[in-house]
Amino acid sequence: MSEWVRVCAADDIDDEDLIRFDHDDRTYAVYRTEKGYFATDGLCTHEDQHLEEGLVTGMVIECPLHGGRFDIPSGKALSAPVCLDLKTYAVRLEGDQLYIEL
Ligand code: FES
Repeated sequence: MSEWVRVCAADDIDDEDLIRFDHDDRTYAVYRTEKGYFATDGLCTHEDQHLEEGLVTGMVIECPLHGGRFDIPSGKALSAPVCLDLKTYAVRLEGDQLYIEL
C-alpha cells in the first residue's frame, strides 16, 4: 500500500535542482524544474551513483559519474551509458510542503 511521505519545504529545492531524500533504507531524488516538482529513485541505473550531484537542465538529469541522462518526469533513459529507466514517484504540493507517494 502506498503512503504520502513529507520530503521538505518546496523552497528548500532551488530552481533547476534536486535534493536527496532518504526514507526506509531507500534513497530518492526530488527535483524542482520549470514544469514543477518530480521524484525518481536516487541511484543511477548504470552503477548506483547517487544523482544528487547531477546536473538538471530543463527536464533532464545528467548523472555526475558518466554523464548518462534521464528524462525527469518519466524516468526514461535518454543516452548511453544508461539504458534502464529510473522509477518515478508522484509528488504533491500541500501548502508549502512537498510529499511523495511511496
Ligand atoms: S553511474 Fe550514472 S552514468 Fe554511470
